[in-house]
Amino acid sequence: MTFSYPGLPSSASIVGVSGSPSPVSKTASLVDHVLHRLGRTEPAQHIRLAQLDPVSLLRGESENPTFKRAVELMQGADGVVIATPIFKASFSGLLKSFLDVLPQFGLAGKVVLPLATGGSPAHVLALDYALRPVLQSMGARHIVQAVFVSATHLQTEEDVLKIAPESAALLDEAILHFAYALRGAVNSPELLGHPRPIRSVSNPILSTATI
Ligand SMILES: Cc1cc2nc3c(=O)[nH]c(=O)nc-3n(C[C@H](O)[C@H](O)[C@H](O)COP(=O)(O)O)c2cc1C
Repeated sequence: MTFSYPGLPSSASIVGVSGSPSPVSKTASLVDHVLHRLGRTEPAQHIRLAQLDPVSLLRGESENPTFKRAVELMQGADGVVIATPIFKASFSGLLKSFLDVLPQFGLAGKVVLPLATGGSPAHVLALDYALRPVLQSMGARHIVQAVFVSATHLQTEEDVLKIAPESAALLDEAILHFAYALRGAVNSPELLGHPRPIRSVSNPILSTATI
């Protein structure tokens, strides 16, 4: 089932990134689920980092077609769903490699929904203490409350992802917040939510603001 969000422009570009190296990945299935809920069913909108050429990814080789396409998708996105498996109490090295080769402020103006799948409730906060500072440093306009989904709450039956009700409820709430933040981002692009890269005194809102 897809959601209907009043005011969310159909033109809003939403991209998913999944950072598991596994070819059969619960994290990737979760991203597909979220994109589907948002009405974005085009597979090309999901960047599966496991499918990028690893050497090109590590070196940031912009001439590699799949890597180039992934970077272009990111650049054109209004909203990004970034999902990772938890490895060693943090986000995956594959995701870090990808974020490392994006521009310093590669998330400027964008709304981000961080997601994780993991095996241990001890690492529920890994997205907040490990990934969120990285996203913030890249200039994200708005980072929605992150959601950690227990791997035991995700089961695939006949290619359909089944999510345990308690995780599904958390996820639905986060998707709703993401959609509302995205609506603001698309309708008010002058508010980047970060000092760089475009703010200047010519910005009518900033130049009239009294702080
Ligand atoms: C090498 C390795 C390390 C892991 N470390 C953790 C961890 O520290 N904390 C945790 O909650 N889960 C950990 N897990 C479990 C994975 O996060 C979990 O199985 C996840 O859903 C895998 O996602 P994927 O199917 O997309 O690869 C680890 C799994 C592997 C293979």
